[in-house]
Amino acid sequence: MTDDGVGELGERTLWHGRFAAGPAEELMAYTVSLPFDRRLAADDIAGSRAHVRGLVRGELLDGDEAAAVLAALDDVERELADGTFVFVPSDEDIHTAVERRVTEIAGPAGGKLHTGRSRNDQVATDLRLYTRRALLEVAERVVALQEVLLSRATEVGDAYLPGYTHLQRAQPVLLAHHLLAHGWALARDVDRLLATRQRGDVSPLGAGALAGSSLTLDPSGTAADLGFSAVFDNSLDAVSDRDFVAEALFDLALLGVHLSRIGEEVVLWSTDEFGFLALDDAYSTGSSMLPQKKNPDIAELARGKAGRLIGNLTGLLVTLKGLPLAYNRDLQEDKEPLFDSVDQIILALGALSGLLASSTFRLDAMAAAADSPYSAATDLAEFLVRGGTPFREAHAIVGEIVRTAMEGHGTMAELVAAHPRLGTEAADLLAAGVSVRNRTTRGAAGPDAVSAQMERFSVRLATDRARIVA
Ligand code: ARG
Repeated sequence: MTDDGVGELGERTLWHGRFAAGPAEELMAYTVSLPFDRRLAADDIAGSRAHVRGLVRGELLDGDEAAAVLAALDDVERELADGTFVFVPSDEDIHTAVERRVTEIAGPAGGKLHTGRSRNDQVATDLRLYTRRALLEVAERVVALQEVLLSRATEVGDAYLPGYTHLQRAQPVLLAHHLLAHGWALARDVDRLLATRQRGDVSPLGAGALAGSSLTLDPSGTAADLGFSAVFDNSLDAVSDRDFVAEALFDLALLGVHLSRIGEEVVLWSTDEFGFLALDDAYSTGSSMLPQKKNPDIAELARGKAGRLIGNLTGLLVTLKGLPLAYNRDLQEDKEPLFDSVDQIILALGALSGLLASSTFRLDAMAAAADSPYSAATDLAEFLVRGGTPFREAHAIVGEIVRTAMEGHGTMAELVAAHPRLGTEAADLLAAGVSVRNRTTRGAAGPDAVSAQMERFSVRLATDRARIVA
């Protein structure tokens, strides 16, 4: 260590005035966030430009000083974009790096950039700007996946497959109905992402380190300048609040859970045992040893990475739970999980969209599995109900027929046709494709209900697209 706050790293820290000695190498190595918060560079520069304009309005910076700092920010932006920005060892985070370089370029005026501002309100501002943009991008890509689901649902028409409960064949459903079931879950994801984005659309800039300022700052002006729709009400809350990160991580985790469920079905459906789906070569992988293999790795990773997304959420919540007001360095741990969840979700959405768009549905195998006469058992019970039989009794009658058939004493069709309370009209319900056509109520799995549903889904997609563009 040397004196005057200059460390072994040979550069001044932002706090060198107070310190006789500079930072240890281990301190810098452990506390540095530059490797990951570099991603906030554009937001940091945007925040600084707004802050400079606010300082001008507050007459804390004159026109020449502001021009010099804004020009330096332009230079820094260019250097960062074209890769000529040279980081130095004391750049512990992107905020420090940008301010250092602005001061090198702009001279003494650069020393006024941090007037009335702390990295505490600065980093909160940057991260909100990033989150606002990232959530919109994710929402856009979710809609793109929904469009794939809708177009596949349209293309497969009235094809049907078994619907399952407990992973046991239950009742036939249209394939379109099954695909749109995932589509509706994703619609809730889009809604959540946009709501989180809106709730987080509050500027913390002007809160300072924790208590606001004695200077003529303009938090409402900088908020408007940055396109925020609201400004903080409490400076302590403004610098401590990471609800928007936790909410974003929850939304991404739940979206990840939905993608995982799609992934699990793709894994099942592409097995020889199910045989419902054939993966396109471009969206499947081979085995290094087993020449015959074609593996659904995208689907498996969509399932596997859900664990990581949930981990990012729980990790942040645990980080936040013990923190007193206001800024604590623990909060630096907000960024990596957020960036990771956003990156992973964007990759997953792209890969699954491609997989679903390119897969071949094996409609014959689906129909053959759904046409098991046992799948129409509920239709038989409902036939009896229409004749006045209480459902419980109808259930018992049909259950007995199913048991008799399974014991090998005749086929379902024979037993139903011969039954005094059922007969040939009821036996017709066992014919291929009949059962699913009879699912006619709102939101049901049959063709008429599904075409109405598809209409509603298209409207919802168009509405969500418009919300994203707005
Ligand atoms: N790198 C820090 C973070 O991400 C910036 C804020 C640092 N503030 C401070 N008082 N040390 O949270």
